[in-house]
Formats: sequence, structure tokens, C-alpha cells
Amino acid sequence: MSLYAIGDLHLHFQSELKAPGQLNDPVWQGHEERFRKNCEALIRPEDTLVLVGDHSWGKDLSACEEDLEYICSLPGRKILTRGNHDMFWDAGKTKKLNEIYVPRLLFLQDDYAPYGEYAIVATKGFTFEGPFYLDRSGKVIAYDREKAQHAKKLVDRELKRLRRSFEAARGDGYRKFIMFLHYPPTNIMETASGFTDMAEEYGAQKVIYAHCHGKRRFRDSIMGERNGVEYQLVSGDYLEWVPYKVLGDEK
Ligand SMILES: [Fe+2]
Ligand SMILES: [Fe+2]
Repeated sequence: MSLYAIGDLHLHFQSELKAPGQLNDPVWQGHEERFRKNCEALIRPEDTLVLVGDHSWGKDLSACEEDLEYICSLPGRKILTRGNHDMFWDAGKTKKLNEIYVPRLLFLQDDYAPYGEYAIVATKGFTFEGPFYLDRSGKVIAYDREKAQHAKKLVDRELKRLRRSFEAARGDGYRKFIMFLHYPPTNIMETASGFTDMAEEYGAQKVIYAHCHGKRRFRDSIMGERNGVEYQLVSGDYLEWVPYKVLGDEK
């Protein structure tokens, strides 16, 4: 039994919308078929695949049905978390989505999913990405205060959701956690955030995140170990559509 993750499929079977880089970057050409082949080579029926947001470009559920059917057709148990482009998924209506897609997909929000002795906890997250104003040496001397205040509201809401997810798991006796965010856990300066603090508070073993596309963005946040937590980017183009193995062969 293994746990895999990947994010940012940005499927568009029913939509013409594509990410700016998606139009001409070879990594996106036919990515649906390459990803399917990689999944079929790696993932067994008893394995779990967490899809870390930005599933579809569709603007509502009716415009995402073929994208979600594609995800249903992949091997293993599929868990979906929310990304910033998932317009079809209103956080307050997650129950309804689960009623439609049970048992083929699990949409995870304000809750946890068990994986052996681990609890999978998740929220979309949010990151303040500036603008920052730098001096000649590259040191931050100011930032956009209005944008920062708006970001704080979004971060606080996401932290509440993440805490509900952790607490639901802890209430059921779980003590080992793998934490999933769509946004990176920090800004580009890798400053500690409410998300890194919460990962440390609950002793999350790993924090898996996505959202960073294109070579210039792959190093936007923490990679590797910090304060006992392992951080890993799993956006699809970064992984070249090979699902990342988070845990392998645990009971
Ligand atoms: Fe994305
Ligand atoms: Fe995103």
C-alpha cells in the first residue's frame, strides 16, 4: 500500500481555457495521456492518490464532468483537495459533491482521510506573494499593505479549516499526519507562516503542496526538511506527470 500525490492537472476536456504556459510548453502537450500511463504503471488498486488542487478549468460542475470522469478512471483510491482554480467546488457544498461521486472520489475539506496509521489533512491554504519592494541588495523594505491585509483574512480562514481537519483526526485517535496544501506553505522569502507553525504544532511528518508552475516558480517555497517537517512540491509539471510517492508500503 502506497500514498502518492500530484497537483495541478488543469484538465480541460470541456474547456478551452488553459494556463498561459500551457499553450506552448511541451511539458503540457498531451499531459493527460502521459499522466494516465504513469499512474497505470505505478499505482495499484490498494494505493491512494491525492490530487492537490487545480483539477479542472471548468467554471462549474457541468463543465467539469469529463475532467472528473477522467480522474475517476485512474487507478487506486482518489482523494481531491481544493485549489484556487476549482470554481466547481464551493467549500460549503463539499458534502453534495461527495454524495454525487461516492465511492469513486473523495473531496476532502474540513475533515481528514485515514491512510493506515496516518491521517491525511488538507486545506487550500493561501500565500501572500507581494508585491514586495526591495532595495538594491534584494532586502525587502516595503510591501503592498492592502493586499497583505486581504491575504491575512484568507489565511486566517484557511488556518481555521486546517485546524478542523487536524482536530477531526486527533479526535479519532490519529497521531501521525501528512498535511496537504494547494498553495505553497510560505511566501518566496520562505518566512515561517501559520501553515508551517501548524504543521510543527501537530507534528505533521510531511507537508505536500502544489500551485507553483513553470521552472521559475519551482523554488518559491521550502523544499526538504525544516524543523522536523519534510516539505515537497508536487505540481504536475514539476513532476513531469509522475506521481510523487509520499509513503510506501506502510501497514
Ligand atoms: Fe495550478
Ligand atoms: Fe493554483
